[in-house]
Amino acid sequence: MAANLVPHGIRRLGVLGAGQMGMGIALVSALRAKVPVLLYDRSPEQVTKGFSLVDKLLLKDVNKGRITSEEAKEARDRIQVVGQEAALQGMRDADMVVEAVSENLGLKQKIFAELGRVCSDKTILASNTSSISITKIASSVIPEGVAASSEVGKKAAERVVGLHFFNPVPVMKLVELISALQTSPDTLERSRSFAVACGKTVTVSKDVPGFVSNALLMPFLNEAIMHLEKGVATRDDIDTTLKLGMAHPMGPLQLADFIGLDTCLAIQQTLYEGTEMVDAGWLGRKSGKGFYEYDN
Ligand code: 3HC
Repeated sequence: MAANLVPHGIRRLGVLGAGQMGMGIALVSALRAKVPVLLYDRSPEQVTKGFSLVDKLLLKDVNKGRITSEEAKEARDRIQVVGQEAALQGMRDADMVVEAVSENLGLKQKIFAELGRVCSDKTILASNTSSISITKIASSVIPEGVAASSEVGKKAAERVVGLHFFNPVPVMKLVELISALQTSPDTLERSRSFAVACGKTVTVSKDVPGFVSNALLMPFLNEAIMHLEKGVATRDDIDTTLKLGMAHPMGPLQLADFIGLDTCLAIQQTLYEGTEMVDAGWLGRKSGKGFYEYDN
């Protein structure tokens, strides 16, 4: 009955990973959507670091008169940190789990396989990945030995979705929603409704490498890096050109640092591997076909 009180039906959220993304997702869910959050990270230091930022941000909102100190306290109290055992137990009762661990397909597949085992088939399993295939992640939820085309296989995978938040999560107004081949319309609509409850505007992208956001952003950041390497301009002149000439809040080199160069590299690797021409074996001159055809 309670599930009908809110359109998204999320009465309890699990968040895996307390890095800057996971912590931000926990915060907007607790503060804006007012949903109790179970937070798990294998590193207690990471959790402590994340909470000190959350406390700072809540205090700033109170000082700016945006929320009362009671609202800040209620939001803080809605976030409960759990250890591994309690996390497994807790995720069982969650209506949605958002994974926000590092950009590593193998790790994500392992986590989703585990979530598939412990969570109810009604629990939405969302990934905050920046570029990894949601369709691949969804496949990992299907129990071993079960055919993807069977009713059980379809039911398992249809609850997986991409819920891509942007950094800093409390500030950036967008959530990019990614539908895997297997995602059901119900999963998509409840996820959209939840992101709106978190105060975000939602765009929808097909499950292509990098989705819309990073498929467009990463080549831009790469170009800036190549211009620096080629000595076309200094770091500061590249960033200032984009900041003052095009009203970007950060220059591309500053933004690449902000996202994390390791994250940028992981995303670009996914874009590269996802290039259909490479998948097709069209590697350029050496394979006889690339953008041109070669008579080897
Ligand atoms: N966490 C939470 N809030 C933060 C923050 C952080 N790390 N850093 C800044 N803020 C908040 C400040 O508290 C302030 O909030 P207020 O208006 O409520 O007081 C607000 O942001 C503005 O901060 P400042 O005045 O200190 O600084 P700026 O005006 O320079 O803004 C910025 C900082 C919001 C980070 C701005 O520079 C910006 O928008 N940069 C671009 C960020 C961006 O493009 N993000 C997307 C990255 S791509 C991505 O995430 C996708 C992934 O897949 C790679």
